[in-house]
Amino acid sequence: MKVGLGDKKKDMRAVWFSNGEVRMIDQRRLPNDIHIVSFRDHSDVALAIRNMTIRGAPSIGAAAAYGMCLAALNGRNLKDAADLIRAARPTANDLFYAVDHMLNALRNKVPPQKAADDYAQTIVDSCKRIGEHGAALMNEGCTVMTHCNAGALATVDVGTALAPIRKAHDDGKNVFVFVSETRPRLQGMQLTAWELLQEGIPHSVIVDGASGHFMKMGIDMVIVGADRIAANGDFANKIGTYEKAVIAKELKIPFYVAAPVSTFDFAAEDGNKIEIEYRSEEEVTMVGSMRVAPVGSGAKNPAFDVTPSRYVTGFITERGILRPLEIGRMR
Ligand code: MRU
Repeated sequence: MKVGLGDKKKDMRAVWFSNGEVRMIDQRRLPNDIHIVSFRDHSDVALAIRNMTIRGAPSIGAAAAYGMCLAALNGRNLKDAADLIRAARPTANDLFYAVDHMLNALRNKVPPQKAADDYAQTIVDSCKRIGEHGAALMNEGCTVMTHCNAGALATVDVGTALAPIRKAHDDGKNVFVFVSETRPRLQGMQLTAWELLQEGIPHSVIVDGASGHFMKMGIDMVIVGADRIAANGDFANKIGTYEKAVIAKELKIPFYVAAPVSTFDFAAEDGNKIEIEYRSEEEVTMVGSMRVAPVGSGAKNPAFDVTPSRYVTGFITERGILRPLEIGRMR
């Protein structure tokens, strides 16, 4: 992705490896501050995943791969490192997929940095193909709604849900994007809007509760990412995805899920098998450092919800577009 101001923009990834360090953009500080953090120990990478310095399923996977790379280079016990990294967050399948991939590569004596760089590059290549398959669904003047951030920040580079939007924009199709703010952590407003701005893609931020209103006014398609897709096509994504999918079906708006192979969990037969992460009450009751809920009111804060596969028009993958019943082909 191009990051910066005006002509000073430079190519940057969400996470990379350089001079023996894992480096990443601190996504908690965007859009106001482009701050790079560096880690030399896998336990710090695990913490960065847990505290959402880096987030988004494929980027979490790449960070995990680089964390395992550090553990190998530092001569750590790889099983212990894998356990620590796997425990960082429970929902994104890419985290577990990446750790398994690295353990396998390291067992086969692939040099640690090459194994992790190859893993990250595979994600980026997959996202480019997702962009090509998805852009073919978009017509001139298309209006698209997305939720949370499934852009370059969430996928090392390019994006999943944002990849078709970028490609259609590059092809001159005059796409317009409705970005739902994504309470409580505001990944839509703070990250997706920032990415679209960097690319010059026209968009409006809307509050989460306005999604149905704007869909009814006329939206051509909804595209979201996913954190885990079960074998039957039920999928977990950022909280608020489920209600968008239900409204889209009611209004006959195509609803697409863009995700690479690493997000599919064929061992989970349906969405009931997907663990949903609950985060702190304070993410809901506070805005920044200010408490906005009455003192004494509790809060519940699931980070994800599960949308049943019957609401999905298609999964946009690097291998093409699949209907929920065709997911078996991904194996
Ligand atoms: O809690 P987050 O910010 O990690 O959640 C991210 C999402 O829900 C994304 O939509 C999902 O990971 C897909 S990213 C390509």
